[in-house]
Amino acid sequence: MKISEERLLSDLHLLKCFTDTPGVGVTRFSYGESDRRARQFIKEAAESHGFSVRTDPIGNMYIGHQEMDGKRNKIRIGSHIDTVRNGGWLDGIYGIASGLEVLRTLSENESERVSEVEVVIFAEEEGSNFGSTMTGSKFVTGIYGEKDLDRLKNDDQISLREMLMNCSFPPYQEEEVLWDFSSMKAMLELHIEQGPVLEREGKSIGIVDGIFGMKTIEITITGTGNHAGATPMKYRRDALATAALCIAEVERVAKTDPEGIVVATVGKMSVLPNCSNVIPEKVIFTVEVRDKREERIRSFINKIEEAIKMISDQRETDLEIRSLADSRPFRMDNRIMKLMDRLASEAGIHHRIMDSGAVHDTCIIAPHVPSGMLFVPSIGGRSHVPFEDTNADDLVGGAQLLLDTVLNI
Ligand code: GLV
Ligand code: MN
Ligand code: MN
Ligand code: MN
Repeated sequence: MKISEERLLSDLHLLKCFTDTPGVGVTRFSYGESDRRARQFIKEAAESHGFSVRTDPIGNMYIGHQEMDGKRNKIRIGSHIDTVRNGGWLDGIYGIASGLEVLRTLSENESERVSEVEVVIFAEEEGSNFGSTMTGSKFVTGIYGEKDLDRLKNDDQISLREMLMNCSFPPYQEEEVLWDFSSMKAMLELHIEQGPVLEREGKSIGIVDGIFGMKTIEITITGTGNHAGATPMKYRRDALATAALCIAEVERVAKTDPEGIVVATVGKMSVLPNCSNVIPEKVIFTVEVRDKREERIRSFINKIEEAIKMISDQRETDLEIRSLADSRPFRMDNRIMKLMDRLASEAGIHHRIMDSGAVHDTCIIAPHVPSGMLFVPSIGGRSHVPFEDTNADDLVGGAQLLLDTVLNI
């Protein structure tokens, strides 16, 4: 059974047009206008092939056969369609377009398996809008619940609850969101690698073993805003100068991991009032730490927090540290990994087993049901930037291996 190469590539090229930043990568935050339009496109494509589409109260969207309800042994293929700001055209949505293509191929070939497969678009995987990665999958597993609807706020201080009320999703009810894992056989995800390993090694497929965990914290440093000309250096409490020392320390501490596995990033910062002639009063920035060893994440977060406290104390600025989100590292199912490995060998595909430094919704689902993930190479190893790309042959090969996995699981 073969997927349609033209249909998959055509979908992907059309979907990249749903962006808030045409010409500068793809910006498609959850619950925004581009997200709504991309969902509509996918819904129409699915319905025109006879599939039904429903959306849960969090905005997770499900595409499957009409006879799916009540089925045991469900195989879910999940990913996301939201992006980071000015991100690439494949991160997330490649897995969804491929899942849809798997469904269409199964249906056209009158495979009985079609009624067991469901494609899931997880809402807010990137956390670009509400600051917490893998939000949709955290709700379906019960890691998040009712209280998080008010806790999670975007940069405009709009809560997730308010945002959901503005979308036409059904009202929040836990029973409508939580998954019944006993009805599932497997969870699968196909994604771009987002790093350089496969390309450097001349491989076309990566079979994911472990997915890194992560923790994100938000640091607020408050000093005293004042006139940038009239205030002598010795009388200042400059919040941004304090933040600069803290950020340098984040990088230094992360580099002390003897195995070089831990990574730490300050990727988001706001400066208030952000005027060239005002001493910065307040700086808010995020720090995220990732590793495949949970205790390492905790210990590096502790070291970083201690260092930041010391710097802020020495400079007599005020400090607030808030936890934004975290996820545990998790290994994929051994039997699914072995199956993917065998299928890739049989198809003559150069492949390898590897870990994922990026997080994925499947990592949140994996503790509950046998899960597997496939990667295709990223050109130049680049992702979360407009240059993100993958060769068409690799895109097609990944989707075909996803179909083969679905057929053989
Ligand atoms: C999500 O894609 C992440 O790994 O940041
Ligand atoms: Mn991403
Ligand atoms: Mn992704
Ligand atoms: Mn991801």
